[in-house]
Amino acid sequence: MIREARGKTTGLAERARRLRRRAEVLAAILVLFSMPLLWSLSQQVRPTPINALAQPVTRAGSLPQAPGPAQTAATQTDVARTDAAARTSRGESVEVAHEGPPTKGCDDPRVLVDRTHALPADYAPANLVSLRRLGVPVLGRDALLRREAAENLEHLVASAAAVGEELTVASAYRSYADQRASHARLVSVYGRRADKVSASPGHSQHQLGTAVDFTNAAVGYEVRRGFGYTGASRWLAAHAHEYGFVLAYPLDGEAKTGYGWEPWHYRYVGADVARRIRESKLGLQGFLLREGVLPRC
Ligand code: DAL
Ligand code: ZN
Repeated sequence: MIREARGKTTGLAERARRLRRRAEVLAAILVLFSMPLLWSLSQQVRPTPINALAQPVTRAGSLPQAPGPAQTAATQTDVARTDAAARTSRGESVEVAHEGPPTKGCDDPRVLVDRTHALPADYAPANLVSLRRLGVPVLGRDALLRREAAENLEHLVASAAAVGEELTVASAYRSYADQRASHARLVSVYGRRADKVSASPGHSQHQLGTAVDFTNAAVGYEVRRGFGYTGASRWLAAHAHEYGFVLAYPLDGEAKTGYGWEPWHYRYVGADVARRIRESKLGLQGFLLREGVLPRC
């Protein structure tokens, strides 16, 4: 009897050990297979690594030199082909066929400036004006923008203010040299990660004198992704196009644009083009690859 009972106890203990072992193996397999999922979730919810990449305020000072003949002369008209979009996103250099009627080069609001299309180092837009003089709130002493863009920005900021949304300009026109200094500074701090939010010199839309970075009190007057969750950002998403401005680097646009989300960076293209971009659903990059002008100036 006693031996029989002992045998039963040993059998039960053995079964319990086997069950425990199976549970451990199952748990190990679960952990192993859930690792990639956990990792990808952590990438989505962790704070943006380069979250507070405040860009330097455009230096105040004398207006840049008026462009010489090499910069103002309309040299060639080029309309980019749509297949260039896919090639650009693969990082390939894109040669685009020349189509369409001749238009101006770098002064055209539709000029394509991205990772593979650069402005010449000596390109500076004409008609840069002081935003401060127009009454647009700016960080630092002043910031410059092309006249048409500046005047539309003035109305945009006033309309936002009328409904209680504050917009302050953190950065506007940046010369090739400004961009080189800004990019080098960010690379020295963040290494190659800086390339996700800062264009190398010649490749910045800020050199066009039509791009502007917004901030406000809600994000401590920093240029950071938190701005994308403010009321001012929601107002911009709904109304910026009415004043000719479009968001250049949208959320989830990195495969197309080569840059991460920049809720603060808007580019002026004129109200008509901005409306067409919105209706096309291509985004600025996709639209300019289809209908843009190459930066030959
Ligand atoms: N932040 C944008 C990509 C620039 O540096 O022009
Ligand atoms: Zn910007």
